[in-house]
Amino acid sequence: MILTLAVSGYRSLREIVLPLDRLTVITGANGTGKSSLYRALRLLADVAQGRTIGALAAEGGLESTLWAGPETISRAMRSGQVPVQGTVRRDRVALRLGFAGEDYGYAVDLGLPVSGGAFAQDPEIKAEAVWVGESLNRHNSIAERAGGLVRVRSGRGEWRPLVTGLAAFDSMMTHATDPSQAPELLALRERMRGWRFYDHLRTDRDAPARRPRVGTRTPALAGDGADLAAAIQTIREIGDGAAFDAAIEDAFPGARVAVVQSGGLFAVTMHQHGLLRPLVAAELSDGTLRFLLLATALLTPRPPEVMVLNEPETSLHPDLIAPLARLIARASGAGQIVTVSHSAALAQALAGQGARTHELRKEVGETVAGMDDPPSWGWPKR
Ligand SMILES: Nc1ncnc2c1ncn2[C@@H]1O[C@H](COP(=O)(O)OP(=O)(O)OP(=O)(O)O)[C@@H](O)[C@H]1O
Ligand SMILES: [Mg+2]
Repeated sequence: MILTLAVSGYRSLREIVLPLDRLTVITGANGTGKSSLYRALRLLADVAQGRTIGALAAEGGLESTLWAGPETISRAMRSGQVPVQGTVRRDRVALRLGFAGEDYGYAVDLGLPVSGGAFAQDPEIKAEAVWVGESLNRHNSIAERAGGLVRVRSGRGEWRPLVTGLAAFDSMMTHATDPSQAPELLALRERMRGWRFYDHLRTDRDAPARRPRVGTRTPALAGDGADLAAAIQTIREIGDGAAFDAAIEDAFPGARVAVVQSGGLFAVTMHQHGLLRPLVAAELSDGTLRFLLLATALLTPRPPEVMVLNEPETSLHPDLIAPLARLIARASGAGQIVTVSHSAALAQALAGQGARTHELRKEVGETVAGMDDPPSWGWPKR
């Protein structure tokens, strides 16, 4: 589970350190930085797959994700006495992402490239660290990367080089995970690879979940929901089918969901109260299909350590918010869940289920979480 999430220098997230619980909801008005926080967590997970630099490039490169405000915001600028003005940059450009779990923590520092050439826009990984415990300090780091050098600390405390000449576009999490010399890195990477993100479960007319398709055992619903029928069938076979049926009953009293097979294709049907024949997925409303997708994602027979949902309430009728909150709360019994949502109703319903709530705000363009006592945090040195 992630106990602390830290982001620095990513869009409006200049410096934010958030404690996360088993069930957390991140909410706030439009434009306060919720989606940016979601994206930052995703970029962090991408490190373990070697995809961070590509993902940043797809957003327009490091330059576009950098904080667009002044490096320092004076008190007079905060109070509006003087206009917000640029200052001469003193610190190096850095996008930093990190988390601390129950045992290990990891952080990465990305900066501007020094080399020229065709890929001169690619950000470079400048520093990384893995540590034991809550936050990085001088005593608890067990693996460090600075430039191209990766060092690991042995049980007796001395440092030895593990990799030299690591390319600036490779992470130590993917290129220095020797099972005998750095088993912690390997274990941490595998856990990060297991984090699951849902942000664009499609429910439009052409959504793949509306069409029958070939099914194989599917313990985790795909990000676009394409394998819905197979995933529901897998819950029925190796997961908690009764909980799935109960979640459907909770949201749509009297309704039943079935998976039918014909000609090797799997399709979802739903018997609804008052209808003479079941509806096929192509006929379901956007909100109904979304709820089925979310129930299937959340009741996965192989719960990930961390599941992150972005705006799950999109296109749901207000009546479905409470059943959704109950479903999310139930799923948090099997793994940590972070929900990002601008819906006050969903945030409130989740808080009623015991979720920790962070309400983001903007202050002079900067996202703040307004916490009295944020967790301690340290970044790796370049
Ligand atoms: N490079 C940047 N520097 C500073 N602020 C930025 C930068 N890029 C985007 N922003 C700000 O971040 C905000 C967008 O944040 P984000 O998309 O995370 O908001 P949100 O909370 O998800 O809003 P919504 O509820 O509308 O989806 C914009 O309002 C913009 O002002
Ligand atoms: Mg958003």
